[in-house]
Amino acid sequence: MTTETVKKEQGPAGGSAGAGELVLETSGVTLRFGGLTSLDNVELRMRRGEVLAVIGPNGAGKTSLFNSLTGAYVPQEGRIVFRPREGGEHSLLGAKPHVVSQWGLARTFQNIRLFGALTALENVKIAAETRLKTGPVSIMLGLPNARKAERASDRRAHEVLSYVGLLEKMNELAGSLSYGDQRRLEIARALATDPEVLLLDEPAAGTNPTEKLELEELIRRINTELGVSVLLIEHDMRLVMSVADRVMVLNFGKKIAEGSPSQVQRDPAVIEAYLGAVAEEDEAAVAQAVAEGAGAQEGAGSGADTDTDTDTGADAGAPQWDTEEHK
Ligand SMILES: Nc1ncnc2c1ncn2[C@@H]1O[C@H](COP(=O)(O)OP(=O)(O)O)[C@@H](O)[C@H]1O
Ligand SMILES: [Mg+2]
Repeated sequence: MTTETVKKEQGPAGGSAGAGELVLETSGVTLRFGGLTSLDNVELRMRRGEVLAVIGPNGAGKTSLFNSLTGAYVPQEGRIVFRPREGGEHSLLGAKPHVVSQWGLARTFQNIRLFGALTALENVKIAAETRLKTGPVSIMLGLPNARKAERASDRRAHEVLSYVGLLEKMNELAGSLSYGDQRRLEIARALATDPEVLLLDEPAAGTNPTEKLELEELIRRINTELGVSVLLIEHDMRLVMSVADRVMVLNFGKKIAEGSPSQVQRDPAVIEAYLGAVAEEDEAAVAQAVAEGAGAQEGAGSGADTDTDTDTGADAGAPQWDTEEHK
């Protein structure tokens, strides 16, 4: 089965090897843009095999944290360490993004970054190729190694597309896919690089309730079947509560809380951070936040999801708290 093939390519260590060790660790990470401190002394400890959610109002520094973990931003201070299964450790601070990807961290973007004019298959193949060692010269000359590599990336792309449920759409242009499918294609593209850690930046933004449930199931399968550790930025609290083992909360660049989903949900500092953000919105936004907070939005039959904005600006400070545990 595809699951097996994808799993096998994760390497002989399998999903559970080294579970519980720290796979990612940051300390004292501080990132400034001029006078603005976007990350302030951030500590993150992620265990291998867990789903760790990062939540917080818009502008809290969540995407900056991802950018710092993947080499896109270079924090002025701090330490960022990745410990791969095979042993040893890599400093991610200031590492080149393609090197970070080769070490085993893959990400998706808050604002989808696909090649819209290429097919779904082509998008994933490009990612799969970044893992292969064939250089540009042998590709140009069509040497046997390059042809072998081309077949390998083609096979890998088919596998991951099948895994995320997009095989029938592999020849469609990425730009013509539905929003939910584009989000899943981004995940497929990240999986094609065989990551140990997958960073998802608001994967549910702009998706409808059905797509959200599919996404939830996909994240869980990636974590449990493939043994991939998942760092998840998400505004949809029902999704967070359902898939996350632990949650850390950022506000104005600082970590203000960390714990199990239910602990964090009850934390006064967290509630205040969100309420504070809501207070700055206009009355309509507050009314909407209250309605969403009542948990009506995801309810059966309601079906209304007006959030089609990738930027999720409308969601700022309005997490859809749902007191039920979905574990
Ligand atoms: N490249 C950048 N240049 C200047 N400011 C930035 C840059 N990236 C992020 N910031 C600022 O850092 C803060 C945190 O932003 P971000 O990490 O995108 O927050 P979040 O993802 O939690 O909404 C914001 O005030 C944002 O304007
Ligand atoms: Mg963001």
